Amino acid sequence: MSFYITTPIYYVNAQPHLGHAYTTIAADTLARHMRQRGEDVFFLTGTDEHGEPVAQVAEREGITPRELADRNAARFKALMPRIEASNDFFIRTSDPEHVAKVQEILQRVHDNGHVYAGIYEGWYCPSCADFKTESEIGPGNTCLIHEIPLLREHEQNWFFRLSSFQEPLERLYRDQPDFVLPRIRANEARSFIDQGLQDVSLSRANLRWGVPVPWDPEQVFYVWFDALLNYVTALSYARPGEDLTERYWPATFHFIGKDILKFHGVYWPALLMAADLELPEHLFVHGFLLMDDKKMSKSLGNVLDPFEVMDKYGTDALRYYCLRDVSFGQDGNVSPASFETRYDTELANEYGNLASRTIAMIIRYRDGAIPAVDTDPELAGDFGGLAAEVAALADRAELTQALDVIWQRVRRLNRYVEERAPWQLAKDAAAAPALDQTLASLVEGIRVVSVLLHPYMPASAGRLLEALDALDLDYDRARFAERGPGGRVTALEPLFPKSA
Ligand code: MSP
Repeated sequence: MSFYITTPIYYVNAQPHLGHAYTTIAADTLARHMRQRGEDVFFLTGTDEHGEPVAQVAEREGITPRELADRNAARFKALMPRIEASNDFFIRTSDPEHVAKVQEILQRVHDNGHVYAGIYEGWYCPSCADFKTESEIGPGNTCLIHEIPLLREHEQNWFFRLSSFQEPLERLYRDQPDFVLPRIRANEARSFIDQGLQDVSLSRANLRWGVPVPWDPEQVFYVWFDALLNYVTALSYARPGEDLTERYWPATFHFIGKDILKFHGVYWPALLMAADLELPEHLFVHGFLLMDDKKMSKSLGNVLDPFEVMDKYGTDALRYYCLRDVSFGQDGNVSPASFETRYDTELANEYGNLASRTIAMIIRYRDGAIPAVDTDPELAGDFGGLAAEVAALADRAELTQALDVIWQRVRRLNRYVEERAPWQLAKDAAAAPALDQTLASLVEGIRVVSVLLHPYMPASAGRLLEALDALDLDYDRARFAERGPGGRVTALEPLFPKSA
């Protein structure tokens, strides 16, 4: 089965920060999990390069929008391998192939009768690139998100007949309760629709940096329509000489932050219907990473630098922390202090130390050979149904819950070490069979959790599996006692060194 997952494309008006890394890490984790399950995965990320936010910053810096876009797109592109993102393509909306495809699709929307000329008058936030409706305007005509004054806009635009999709969108939310996950976000989108949809500007008149409107080259498309279409256009040129649209469209999951729900949950399905394209299966809406209860953002200046964290603690620790500390789907505070606590107690002690101790004991007591005996049925029982439970949670993108059920097994293994006290068993020759069973069971438990943790922490889980001579990531292998008895371990440097 094909599984197509996307992140939002990131604005190139600033450098990447943890908020951007966050969505990408989450999408990458799910993409890797699905590959393990044998799905035909395509994972897309990229940059959103047109529009006012970019044009304005370029002007301030005295460079062209293209120069700014090139500089910052390179930074976002470089972020991907740094966070171990396994994206299959990186789209830039300045790609000529994207531009041509946007023109083709929006021309069709026009020809299908969903576009007309009109005058726009209203409040606009240049940072959101969003025309605000009444309920989205803060005190003194300010942006509720950026806390900056909104601009009064009056211009001749092309309009998209969003209002004529009132009924079809109501039906979509009624018939597909899981179109937007978590459910609470679906309610939010529905209540926006229930207020009554108004037509929206499809083009901008006073902006040059964008995709020209083919039937009116004096105007460029409003950046959100150009940007949303990336999810479709990318498939037409990601593989030179091959069109992947049939194979992967419609998308299985769009991962987005809660601030861009209106665009994805309302405009996007309407635009797809207007263009005779199928709708994605799900949007998963995550919350914000906060610092001291405020959204981490470039405009507020309270950002945690993902590069610094990775330099100091490694990429896997960052990936783990993002999905562990803040429940995926909700808002949550992040801080250096809570990061260090998770790192020390969970990664270094509960997982890293469990692995090093087990391997060290096998080397010391059994000369590196994993005892070829049956595993402990009681421990096996505690792993029963785990892989299926993780898969069911992943199907709904419940990445934090999935990590939690895996981590319960990591803790179970730590308790098992304490219960069985292998160092005591090693003192008594008569306890050799018990020691064999203990060591074999620990290795098997560690192997299973590591196969399941691999999407979250590919480098560390991979290293550990290699040390167990069991680097087989196939999801069928995520069952206790699937390894078969025997094999050898090799010494392992600490996965998460304490000194960091
Ligand atoms: N360019 C648009 C998206 C177009 S998609 C067709 C955009 N870009 S953005 O760079 O501003 O934000 C991209 C994503 O990063 C959004 O999903 C946003 O929610 C997410 N984050 C930015 N800061 C964030 C946090 N502090 N926490 C979590 N995610 C946040 O919007």
